[in-house]
Amino acid sequence: MPMPFVKPVSRPLNTVSEAPPVVTGAAGLRASLRAARARGERIALVPTMGNLHRGHLQLVRLAATRAERIVVSIFVNPLQFGPSEDFARYPRTLQADLKALQELGLPVLVFAPETDVFYPDGPELASRVEVGGLSEILCGASRPGHFTGVATVVLKLFNLVQPDVAVFGRKDYQQLQVIRRMVRDLDVPVDIVSGETVREPDGLALSSRNAFLDAGQRRQATSLHATLQALAEALVRGDAAIDELEQRGWRELEKAGLQPDYVSIRRQRDLGGAGTADRELVVLAAARLGTTRLIDNIEIRRD
Ligand code: PAF
Repeated sequence: MPMPFVKPVSRPLNTVSEAPPVVTGAAGLRASLRAARARGERIALVPTMGNLHRGHLQLVRLAATRAERIVVSIFVNPLQFGPSEDFARYPRTLQADLKALQELGLPVLVFAPETDVFYPDGPELASRVEVGGLSEILCGASRPGHFTGVATVVLKLFNLVQPDVAVFGRKDYQQLQVIRRMVRDLDVPVDIVSGETVREPDGLALSSRNAFLDAGQRRQATSLHATLQALAEALVRGDAAIDELEQRGWRELEKAGLQPDYVSIRRQRDLGGAGTADRELVVLAAARLGTTRLIDNIEIRRD
């Protein structure tokens, strides 16, 4: 028998200085949100896989500018990890996450379901959301099924929370475009808002996966942002053709000891190949350092 998708709310929706209430099932979540909506509150959703860092907390702050109640979902979604990927070792730090959210002092409700509650028939059996084309390029080419897993869990979260607004980071640029496309294609009634990438002082984009880097890799990792930055500047100056710049970026990453997966300059709106007439571009890269895969991007506008 599948486990019922129900668990009561442990506490009422928080007053801001208390630890955020945590709900683990759909019934508890809906009951809490019904009460919030009855008070006329708008709902924002910030989907996460936990292990919250300053980047996530920035998204929660952004959500608070758009809604009176913020649902932060914390769920390491097995459907978006390939068989040889890091699902098992992905950091799970619920207590620290709750403390970080409490310190924000914002009206947050945490939705943290167990896998067998979220996917009662098992993740393999779940109906899936396929965002064609966009899901197969760039990260999708080396992580087949990844964006289907992301789109599926995000649509399920949208259905459960029915948020007015949902907030995603621009560090996961392709993910953001996949979700925007899904929302448009399927008429999902939610506004998608994006938050800026938060970086370490040396430029490395914050990511839960940075914790997997040893000291030497951590130093090498700075070359990812530095390379993208140099490409973005060269692109704005009109130094070289796009494919030449992409090859230059690839060589720079290799020189720094990274194994590039891709270095690519694309149109922002659909991640299609950038032509000379395109003004709003994004320089994206993914690269491996040992067993850790890092991604980053820089948006630019060419006049
Ligand atoms: O960006 C993430 O952390 C995840 O891909 C998301 C959007 C929470 C879906 O699992």
